[in-house]
Amino acid sequence: MNIAEVEKKALAEISKVKTPKNLDGFRIKYLGRKGEINNFLSEIPELPRQEDRKKAGILINEVKGRIEEALALRDKDLKNQSLKKVEKEPFDITEPGKTVPLGSIHPITKFREFVRDTFSQLGFEEVYAPHIEEDSYNFGLLNISPDHPSRDLWDTLYLENGDLLRTHTSNIQVREMEKRKPPIKVMSFDRCFRYESVDPHHDHTFTQFDLLYIDKKVSMVHLKFLSDLFLKKVFGERTKTRFRPKYYPFVEPGVGVDALCPFCEGKGCRICGREGWFEIAGAGLVHPQVIKNGGLDPDEYSGLAWGFGPDRILMIKLGIDDIRHFNKGDLRFLKQF
Ligand code: DAH
Repeated sequence: MNIAEVEKKALAEISKVKTPKNLDGFRIKYLGRKGEINNFLSEIPELPRQEDRKKAGILINEVKGRIEEALALRDKDLKNQSLKKVEKEPFDITEPGKTVPLGSIHPITKFREFVRDTFSQLGFEEVYAPHIEEDSYNFGLLNISPDHPSRDLWDTLYLENGDLLRTHTSNIQVREMEKRKPPIKVMSFDRCFRYESVDPHHDHTFTQFDLLYIDKKVSMVHLKFLSDLFLKKVFGERTKTRFRPKYYPFVEPGVGVDALCPFCEGKGCRICGREGWFEIAGAGLVHPQVIKNGGLDPDEYSGLAWGFGPDRILMIKLGIDDIRHFNKGDLRFLKQF
């Protein structure tokens, strides 16, 4: 390529460059130390006649000048173009930046962390059990045979193959007994499902917590200790724990665990429905038959099981009037936490 062709090519390329930054590449390509123009300059000494060397020098320097000029012109043009764009969409540099909306943690998730922390400090390990469960782990092995009237306590969603959507987190119990050797200390905070007619206090999808402790000589004393410790952590030191006899087929004795209303301290107020107490949990000592079903010897081992509904506790604690808020995903609700 002769110098005239190089010039033509350079000017054509430069006119097509789209950003000032890309111009630098062409500056190097043509005018750099090892660029195309310098290649011509380095050939000058090879010309035999003094007169030709002079002419070539002038010619090359003229081309160099024109390329420099084209680069400068294109640079100015490109900068002007972007300035014009900004002028078309004027902005106020003093305007405060746009705020990025920040997410927050769902109240149930936050509570789950708290419950997990509390019981893991006492040596309980978090476990999971299937949401789609066999009848046996949800009912049969927990002493609830198919024709047992207590099945009415759990409105169940059955699948066509006979499996079901677990109605409680108590389905961890026999599963964990089968897997582990005592001492067994496990907990689960997870989702459950029921065939409910939905209202402010019942939803088809809700959360439960279950705790299982199996060892030699586990007694009601342990149960009382754990209940009291947890309820005080949730509702404050002013609450108290009360056990009432209550029937659950998989524990014997079974108890309902109540917390003294922290708002009125037992006098009865609007929040506790004038009761003075809140019914919080179901619990008891694991039924010997259930221990046997888990493959352990009930003469050697005893255990406690304890379960509550986190939704209900949060509703009391945070003054939430409808359980359905938890699953609705309504930002007006969620933004409050
Ligand atoms: N699973 C029971 C329910 O769904 C709650 C419960 C009661 C859990 C007693 C327990 C227990 O671990 O011991 O109503």
